[in-house]
Amino acid sequence: MQGRKILFGVTGSIAACKAATWVSSLVQEEAQVTVMMTEAATRFVTPLTFGALSGQQVYTDMFSTDAEEIMAHITLSGDADAVLIAPATAQTIAQLAQGMADNLLSAAVLASAAPVVVCPAMNSKMLAHPATQRNLAILKELGYLVVEPETGPLACGEVGTGRLAEWDTVREVLQGLFVEQDLAGQQILITAGPTREPLDPARYLSNRSSGKMGYFLARTARRRGAEVTLISGPTNLPAPPEITLVPVQTAAEMAKAVKEHAENASIIVKAAAVADFRPKNVASLKIKKSTAALQLELEPNQDILASLGKGKVQRPDQLLVGFAAESNNHEAEGRRKLEAKQADLIVVNDILGKQTGFDVDTNQVIFITQEGAEQLALLSKEETANRIWDKVIALHKSKRG
Ligand SMILES: Cc1cc2nc3c(=O)[nH]c(=O)nc-3n(C[C@H](O)[C@H](O)[C@H](O)COP(=O)(O)O)c2cc1C
Repeated sequence: MQGRKILFGVTGSIAACKAATWVSSLVQEEAQVTVMMTEAATRFVTPLTFGALSGQQVYTDMFSTDAEEIMAHITLSGDADAVLIAPATAQTIAQLAQGMADNLLSAAVLASAAPVVVCPAMNSKMLAHPATQRNLAILKELGYLVVEPETGPLACGEVGTGRLAEWDTVREVLQGLFVEQDLAGQQILITAGPTREPLDPARYLSNRSSGKMGYFLARTARRRGAEVTLISGPTNLPAPPEITLVPVQTAAEMAKAVKEHAENASIIVKAAAVADFRPKNVASLKIKKSTAALQLELEPNQDILASLGKGKVQRPDQLLVGFAAESNNHEAEGRRKLEAKQADLIVVNDILGKQTGFDVDTNQVIFITQEGAEQLALLSKEETANRIWDKVIALHKSKRG
């Protein structure tokens, strides 16, 4: 978001107070935010709030005689990278659908060449009314990006659809505007997180994977236009917006889910830390301290990546990316896995480094392909995810000749 110029339009919904926190988040990410408000919006939150949070003048009046504001309805959107209308009332949606320009906000949107993101928020009956539905359909037809409202408790006391979308969802939509849609048309399957192998109803064997790398892969792929299915072991991370999340617990469940979804995928990225072994016997009741055997008998789990590699004989167009979490001989281990699992790319992580591997926000990886090895710098996991997609796109192109 850094340096992005966002023209932020606020309208007269009870959800206007949420817009204040969104402005704050954008400013924290070093975006330049200019707020314009309808007259109704100023009844809910004062322009002073938005002025203080954005550090910029707030525009409310089309007919202001202040020299700087006289042509604001035209100039405001002039250099905007995106216009965000949030919350968008039924009234403003109707105005925009009709191309009306009878207040500063609607005139500024008409005068804008930038993409416009509209986030409706209203009572569920207002939303369901055919007039509102028709107006939203018109907006989509005109090329506006409508972020669908969510279902839940509404300010009016009812429960229904009409809640302003979550900031995380809208932020992803905005981010998508600023990146090339170079994964559009790809169906990507990603696995993430650890697995849990039960011992008894209270205990399990697992590992330190946080799922962060896989979740950033899912977010960045979606942003770049892909359709994403994320098969995830248990993590503490919020579900990335606009993707299909398939939660699993054990390696066996993960293997089953991968099998079900692999066929439709053009790209598969196995970032999950799947347990290699599981307890041979799972007790149906909690094992008592006094009766516990001190030796644990394990049996191997299925190697999901290797079985996918074998399947590639039937799907030569499918690109397979594996991860190798290694504590020594990184490159040699990566190369061994590339061959053994018939993958197109192995991303090797160092799990002993303080800033790499499990549960940290940074990573330093080595790409291993048939062409050779490539060491990346220490990067955020988000940036690492983007570099992985750059590499995948290059491999995809060379594969198709
Ligand atoms: C307490 C209160 C809450 C309101 N919340 C909403 C809302 O969430 N969505 C909506 O479309 N209208 C809502 N309205 C009605 C709008 O404020 C009204 O239609 C107004 O004309 C919208 O003008 P604007 O689109 O120019 O901001 C609310 C009105 C009141 C009094």
